[in-house]
Amino acid sequence: MTKDQKYTDVAAQIMAVTDGEQNIIARMATISCLLSEAFADFFWTGFYLVDDNKPEELVIGPYQGSLGCLRIPFGRGVCGMAAATGQTQLVDNVHNFPGHIACDSRSVSEIVVPVFDAGGMLIAVLDIDSEKPANFDKTDKIHLEKIIRLFARCTSHPD
Ligand code: SME
Repeated sequence: MTKDQKYTDVAAQIMAVTDGEQNIIARMATISCLLSEAFADFFWTGFYLVDDNKPEELVIGPYQGSLGCLRIPFGRGVCGMAAATGQTQLVDNVHNFPGHIACDSRSVSEIVVPVFDAGGMLIAVLDIDSEKPANFDKTDKIHLEKIIRLFARCTSHPD
């Protein structure tokens, strides 16, 4: 099965399982689990949440994989860059990325996709790491951004 087909299948699965579920932690946990199960080369798959109590800081959310760092300031590392810029980050080798936060030195390539709520507010980032260099490309970016857009459609910022 091609990567494209795998993403199409997993997106359908995510939509079916999370349909009608409003709780964002439940939705994020389910997405982390299904993506991680679908792709054997995803070493770490999960979310960092924007911390409502600490401006410009991410805090660990639902994930699958080895122990993740608990907090990441906006602008630091790949996740912090995605949060600060609101743009997806694709990194072939994190060891060459300035300010990279090495939660686990086995991570080599990464993709980080910002997550916005229905009102366009940044609420989290989706971080996926691989032990393989350059594991992520345009196909991952297109599909993951689509999965995250569908996710956000049913999400409003908790206030
Ligand atoms: N890769 C991230 C840190 C988090 S972990 O890898 C789980 C980064 O540099 O932003």
